[in-house]
Amino acid sequence: MTEELENHHMTPEEFRRWGRAAVDWVADYYERVESLPVLSTVQPGEIRARLPAAPPLQGESFEAMLADLDRIVLPGITHWQSPNFFAFFPANTSGPSILADLICAGLGVQGMLWLTSPACTEIETHVLDWVVDMLGLPARFKSGGAGGGVIQDSASSASLCALLAARERASGGAVNARGGTGRLVAYCSTQTHSSVQKAAMIAGIGRDNVRAIEVDAAFAMRPAALREAIERDRAAGLTPFFVCATVGTTSSTAIDPVPEVAAICREHGLWLHVDAAMAGTAALCPELRYIHAGVDQADSYCFNPHKWMFTNFDCDCFYVADRQALVNALSILPEYLRNTATETGTVIDYRDWQVPLGRRFRALKLWFVIRWYGVEGLRHHVRRHVELAQQLRVWIEQDPDFELAAPAPLNLVCFRHRGGDAVNERLLAELNASGALYLTHTRLDDRYTLRLCVGQSQTEARHVRAAWERIRTAAG
Ligand SMILES: Cc1ncc(COP(=O)(O)O)c(C=O)c1O
Repeated sequence: MTEELENHHMTPEEFRRWGRAAVDWVADYYERVESLPVLSTVQPGEIRARLPAAPPLQGESFEAMLADLDRIVLPGITHWQSPNFFAFFPANTSGPSILADLICAGLGVQGMLWLTSPACTEIETHVLDWVVDMLGLPARFKSGGAGGGVIQDSASSASLCALLAARERASGGAVNARGGTGRLVAYCSTQTHSSVQKAAMIAGIGRDNVRAIEVDAAFAMRPAALREAIERDRAAGLTPFFVCATVGTTSSTAIDPVPEVAAICREHGLWLHVDAAMAGTAALCPELRYIHAGVDQADSYCFNPHKWMFTNFDCDCFYVADRQALVNALSILPEYLRNTATETGTVIDYRDWQVPLGRRFRALKLWFVIRWYGVEGLRHHVRRHVELAQQLRVWIEQDPDFELAAPAPLNLVCFRHRGGDAVNERLLAELNASGALYLTHTRLDDRYTLRLCVGQSQTEARHVRAAWERIRTAAG
């Protein structure tokens, strides 16, 4: 064995130098992001055409890579971190979160087992217990009792894990053992996020066995229709097993009547999952905690700090009231992962709480965000976003040319010009082509509807005011 004669790694000194340059690049980007067209205007293939056909045989300078961020990457970026980004739901960020993610990458740990980095597991468990108190969630979701929380990559994964836990509970572990889901049926509403249907496809439940329950005039699930569907399926010999209720639907932030839905689930022995992907963050503010009424009856719950709580993607907090049900569904222990800590039963191995084996130290960014802002700091910004959205709601209500398309309880306003679908479609295309802001659309009551969601970290009153002025001007 010869000694190393050649080494292409970045030295600690080079890392320091280029690390500073990379952080500077991000800080400069944040200083100018407001001036960039929010929605990327490149054509398909345009970014790829700027890349060399073959990879470099010899390493390049870091300087050249940073320069290509401006030359190649930025034109193909839709600026989610622009204060003029009002599309979809936010995916906001913050300094402490970005820096924690950098440190997470630097540590480069795999937190699949407690043993493979005890801090990764214990900080996650502890911070997720904090979040229960921060949002006023039920104590049964805390790790001290039968429940507990885990960070998933996304709300989609949380729904999938909830569905799998429910499937195994309903089948007594038979599906994991022998396959075939029998006659299991899941329920959601017509407004539920598509990830629930996808989860049913992945879990072998099948799309046809997901009932989309009708909604009321406020786009919230109708409990009576849920009950009828369950009873109909029971009478037909099927096995209802899972309901997903939503707090803050993707289209319009409708809030399903969780207390009534929970009562039906209890009566029929169904697993209730509550998806509060974006809206859950609002519960930081005690005056908005009403959105979580009934969640104390849920078997599982999730929300995404990576949407509205200043924590970089990916970070979804997923809670279960009975962690054993989750672990029963997802645990499998090959010989090479056996270790004494696991065998004592005194530690959490989060690999048993998720689909993949490996996992990043995602709790670090959530911990840093909570410590940097403090609960009051987070509340301040969430309240401000809600206040700005409510101001926009009032302007829309007062304008004879526009109408609200749905209740706007939080930070999303759904509205339309009274001129009809074609006018609204043209309006959206024109606004987004201007580069000054980015809005998206939905269909409510089968009518084309504009959505404006206030949630990017840096959005202030002047951005919402400018957006509304631009919308009115574009409408003529
Ligand atoms: C209510 C709701 N659930 C789930 C999702 C999916 O989120 P994720 O990207 O974390 O899977 C979304 C996305 O916007 C959502 O609005």
